[in-house]
Amino acid sequence: MTTVTDDYADLIGTLDLPGKITLLTGATTFTLAPCDAIGLGELRLSDGPTGVRGLKFSGGRTVALLPNATLLASAWSEDAAYEVGRLLAEEAMAQQIHVVLGPTINLHRSPLGGRLFEAYSEDPLLTGRLAAACVRGMQDSGVGACLKHLVANESETDRNTMNSVVDEATLRELYLLPFEIAVSESDPWSMMAAYNDVNGVAATEQQHVNNEVVKGEWGYQGLIMSDWFATRTVAPAANGGLDLVMPGPDGPWGDALVAAVESGEVSEPVIDEHLRRLLRLADRAGALGEPRDYPADLPAPDSPRRREQLTRLAAQGITVLTNRNAGLPLHPGERVALIGRHAIETIDMGGGSAQVNPPYQISVAEGLGLRLPGDVAVVDGVEVRTRPVPARGGFLTNPATGEPGVHVTLLDGAGAVIEERHAPAATTVVGVDDDFDATVSTIRFRARINASGPAELGSMGVGSWHVRANGHEQRHELRVSGSGIGEELLAPPVATGTVEVNGGDVFEAEVLLRPPGRDAAAAGTPAAGVGLYGLIARAAPRDAAEVIAEAAAAAAAADVAVVVVGLTEEQETEAVDKSTLRLPGAQDDLVYAVAAAAKRTVVVVNAATPVLMPWLNEVEAVLWVALPGQEGGHAVAAALTGDIEPAGRLVTTFPAADGQTPAWSVTPVGGDLPYAEGTFIGYRGHFAGHTPAPRFWFGHGLGYATWDYADVGLVAGAPVPTVTVTVTNTGNRPSREVVQVYFEPADPAQPVRLAGWRAVPATPGRRVTVEVPTDPRSLRRWDTANNGWADVGPGRLLVARGLGDIRATVPLTTG
Ligand code: BGC
Repeated sequence: MTTVTDDYADLIGTLDLPGKITLLTGATTFTLAPCDAIGLGELRLSDGPTGVRGLKFSGGRTVALLPNATLLASAWSEDAAYEVGRLLAEEAMAQQIHVVLGPTINLHRSPLGGRLFEAYSEDPLLTGRLAAACVRGMQDSGVGACLKHLVANESETDRNTMNSVVDEATLRELYLLPFEIAVSESDPWSMMAAYNDVNGVAATEQQHVNNEVVKGEWGYQGLIMSDWFATRTVAPAANGGLDLVMPGPDGPWGDALVAAVESGEVSEPVIDEHLRRLLRLADRAGALGEPRDYPADLPAPDSPRRREQLTRLAAQGITVLTNRNAGLPLHPGERVALIGRHAIETIDMGGGSAQVNPPYQISVAEGLGLRLPGDVAVVDGVEVRTRPVPARGGFLTNPATGEPGVHVTLLDGAGAVIEERHAPAATTVVGVDDDFDATVSTIRFRARINASGPAELGSMGVGSWHVRANGHEQRHELRVSGSGIGEELLAPPVATGTVEVNGGDVFEAEVLLRPPGRDAAAAGTPAAGVGLYGLIARAAPRDAAEVIAEAAAAAAAADVAVVVVGLTEEQETEAVDKSTLRLPGAQDDLVYAVAAAAKRTVVVVNAATPVLMPWLNEVEAVLWVALPGQEGGHAVAAALTGDIEPAGRLVTTFPAADGQTPAWSVTPVGGDLPYAEGTFIGYRGHFAGHTPAPRFWFGHGLGYATWDYADVGLVAGAPVPTVTVTVTNTGNRPSREVVQVYFEPADPAQPVRLAGWRAVPATPGRRVTVEVPTDPRSLRRWDTANNGWADVGPGRLLVARGLGDIRATVPLTTG
């Protein structure tokens, strides 16, 4: 057995140049190449951050679906973030995964960003501290984290080509800060370089960010891998601090990098350094030397342990935005009209690489129905999507087994069966995940329809489709519409038609992945037949006016109406940004109509990021529940009834109208996206008056208690400026207060910023004295002239429950 030493020189020295370089590109989509000669095993990576999906992009094994990042962050709890890290590590160990690709620590710059649901917050301190805790939780269990995406990757439009234009002070004070905090407080074993350029240089080639700042100034010892297919060059990337190209086996390095070393463009010590970092990662994660042992008794994704954790983690981030006339918690014994598509099909995760295949998803209708048996009447709401999605629930069953889902047959070019499988979610992935030798040429789907009446039936995925049900036939030629990498997986095309069906009808479809006699590439068919394929099947959409009238009638007949509204994976997804914060479809009309008819109306917002609420003054209470994960319905029900205190505080500012944010547009112009607001993003810009006051401030959240603040001062002799304050729970329920301290510099060129927080539980009447140290990283600014950090100078500390509710101020002269 080779001895493993810290610089791995003995191992590196045994390999020739091509042998070394082979290891610097992935072997498959989510694995790295093993190398017996040096005792390197196969290193396995899996996407996070809301579950550990495994080695398949979709349709993989069943894993736990966690609440999304904004919901977890809303607890403002490093303990909770640590627990999430542990949980992710357990999910990874159950699959013998070495590295989880998360947490995502980009900031909420514009609320239009499609991927904000994956990232914690608009604030860099909150993001960095939660990320560090999550990474510690993972790595304490021996599973590596991967901070992503380095850096200035806050939106999705033209994500593979756009150039974020960010001045150095903004880069340091905002977008690099979460990475800096996580490196210093948790030593993450890996990071992922983003798709975008930063100031004209690809993130995968960033001499400045990767080499000078991260590996140089911060002394980072981990590995930097590329985002998937992000590496565009050989020498510039290898010299620019990128250690590993993902995925593989193909990529720009390989022989071309061997040649670049031979020609002197890249030096061999640079290659050795990349390999050293890769071996260090493998060593830390248990893929170098003796293979690690994995615990055998890990909780299953649907175990009682997971159910308890996931309900609690979701519920504690749920945030009470308004609560007039004690509209919440629901009063015992009242009759509830529970209204809305999101009540029935609660959205528990966003779209893209963060998606997982959970064992179940509890809807709000199921959760509240179980908690208040006999008191809840459920009424469907208006349509919330423009694109149909594959069947969810029991609309289709597999005729071969009777289980909910579809029977799928994969065939090769000669028509021979490669595999038969049951697809529970009516979707299947071909290409990226294939672990069989033959190339899939045709996919056949067969299912039984469990409903009668007008149904919307159709197909999803690139290829030539033939769809049949109840004597009706459809033929569709489906192509990708844009040129984004992975679009056939992230935004597959769909086509549907309305068909009158009878319960028990058989629904059959066949798709030819490579249309015969055509140039497949020109026709938009991905070369290797890669794609996401599925059947669309659901009851045909109904007229919105009819649906709203039914909802209003149900609301009038109940004691309280609970309307669940929200976004879907059409808005909250990788690869696509939003264009508005309005709720999709006629959901606003639905809320107005219900509020007009009901005695009391409570709105539940099932969206990870800000939405507009034009009806806010018409309703009693609004509860923000984000994307609550597989236990979502139980968590929301527990929050509505008050069985679990929803003591969340917002992690991002909710603007009052479209465009009323310091950074709004996410559309590059001529390839450039200027971060022109500088360090004044989110609440910082609102507070400076750059944009009108928001609807809800960052840090806002009422819980079900009220709080008094007294005796505010600075702790004498503390090593860093530390606020002391006595808070009293003046409400009638036990709750948890998040005492927030902001620093408002006297210099108007410097924005207000979160400087520290502390969460305290308290029973009614209880007084608690809390000390909140300020984080030194919030009291400094980047001095561009001197290329270093400087004090911001004097100012005031604001003790607040979000900047809309400042309770006290304390001068700070020592800044
Ligand atoms: C995403 C990454 C993800 C990777 C692998 C990319 O499209 O940007 O966050 O980890 O795919 O699935």
